[in-house]
Amino acid sequence: MNTTTALEVRRLSPALGAEIRGVDLREALSDAVFEQILKAWHAHQVILLRDQDLSEDQQWAFGTRFGPLAGGHNRQLEASREGIAYVSNVRKDGKPIGILPDGEMQFHSDQSYREQPSQGSMLHAITVPGAGGNTVFADCYAAYETLPAEVQRRILGLQALHVYDYSLNPTQRGGRDVAADVPRHVQPMVRVHPVTRRKALYVSRLMTAHVVGLPDAESEALLSMLFDHVEQPRFIYSHAWRKGDVLMWDNRCVLHARTDFDPRETRLMRRITLKGEPVLAA
Ligand code: OGA
Ligand code: MN
Repeated sequence: MNTTTALEVRRLSPALGAEIRGVDLREALSDAVFEQILKAWHAHQVILLRDQDLSEDQQWAFGTRFGPLAGGHNRQLEASREGIAYVSNVRKDGKPIGILPDGEMQFHSDQSYREQPSQGSMLHAITVPGAGGNTVFADCYAAYETLPAEVQRRILGLQALHVYDYSLNPTQRGGRDVAADVPRHVQPMVRVHPVTRRKALYVSRLMTAHVVGLPDAESEALLSMLFDHVEQPRFIYSHAWRKGDVLMWDNRCVLHARTDFDPRETRLMRRITLKGEPVLAA
């Protein structure tokens, strides 16, 4: 491709997301082309490139242009290279070959329970169900910006505990009494994106357990108000997958969730997880 050509970037929804056209990710991308992709990612929060057909190595080569990758918590479920894993309900000898196999998944931001959560994640659709299993994205910039000023002021000074219990159902919010060995980290409730410098709401239904320093009832009331707020349709793009899609989201400014799908259908995605970075408090 001629490196001076501007890529075609088309919005996916009024809320967020953009499709980038005219790029074959099997090819080595020039710096100029990659810069346009990176810019679109920062501007639109979620980017989609359709009709790709990438090997593990090719996906790795594209993913690492954004930065180093991070291994998951379960090395056994990693693919040939650290930072690549399969998200799938395919089972061998009764055991899932990948992570997050089945069904609906509540809104979250990957690894928010770590001190340095993943900056972004990428899925490449290899086999998709005939219906459902959408990945749904919520715009955390807009969610923050549309809160009443007094709520913004209140949460700017607050932190919340993020936890993730792999041993229980990893797709639905657990109780607040989590076992001592469950990964957890206290995060600011509003974070600043290191590139765009915009403020984003940083709580999620799946992983945010408690607001630090608030009594249970008050914490629960504040959190459920914020979860309901960020999950409003006006902030959402719901991605219906097609085989060949490569889609990448920015964990610093979007939440994502998954809709249910028929367990008799196969869903196989190859995932790349970008390494974490310190969370900037707003
Ligand atoms: C993930 C994830 C959602 C999906 O890979 O982090 O949340 O649609 N996946 O499978
Ligand atoms: Mn996720």
